[in-house]
Amino acid sequence: MPAYGINFNEDTAQISNAFVQHAPLWLEIGFGNGDTLLEIATARPDINCIGIEVHAPGVGHLLRGVENRSLQNLRVIRHDAIEVVEHMIEPGSVERILVLFPDPWPKKRHHKRRLLKQPVIDALANCLLPGGVLHCATDWQPYAQDMLEQFNASQLLDNLAAGDSGFAQPPEYRLQTRFESRGQRLGHQVFDLLFERNSTVAESSELKPHNRPPG
Ligand SMILES: C[S@@+](CC[C@H](N)C(=O)[O-])C[C@H]1O[C@@H](n2cnc3c(N)ncnc32)[C@H](O)[C@@H]1O
Repeated sequence: MPAYGINFNEDTAQISNAFVQHAPLWLEIGFGNGDTLLEIATARPDINCIGIEVHAPGVGHLLRGVENRSLQNLRVIRHDAIEVVEHMIEPGSVERILVLFPDPWPKKRHHKRRLLKQPVIDALANCLLPGGVLHCATDWQPYAQDMLEQFNASQLLDNLAAGDSGFAQPPEYRLQTRFESRGQRLGHQVFDLLFERNSTVAESSELKPHNRPPG
């Protein structure tokens, strides 16, 4: 962590100071073991990448990958992503945010624990540059439909999907993750959502404590 991590604090300059190059910024939230972000950062030395994850073994796995590949353009934050988005990311500073296979919390009484719901969605949109993209994927159809409805309802986001379903083709940088493989074994379809930040000015991205999802 001292070499390749960024400590959580409320200073937005931490992010730009962490990189040797000034470049477009991509974020991955809940990266699991980090293999997707590792491949993206390797294939795209022209961008800076930040991974945010709370699970220590996954963080360790990604840090090892960064060291083995001597990557200068990938840094890791081990902290609650909502707090990071709220306090560390400059509004309008991110080119792409990935949230791949977030915990689906299938039971209705647990839906409040889902990461992707208002006001987090608008806080994520507020981090994006105009034209920046929020990319989410899930193999849990009810969560996919719920995300689609909520993203469509956001004033800040426009759907980039070409067809009528509202779901998009997966961009080629999205590798098959462990959670996707598990979903496929269970016969689940995978849904990708690609939404672009428009130029509407956000009213406020502040997450009120009583609105925050736990965990
Ligand atoms: C189902 S896993 C998916 C991991 C990975 N994206 C993949 O597809 O393999 C969800 C991940 O999100 C992480 N996570 C959940 N809530 C989080 C939060 N508030 N901040 C950071 N990470 C979070 C979990 O620790 C977990 O690793």
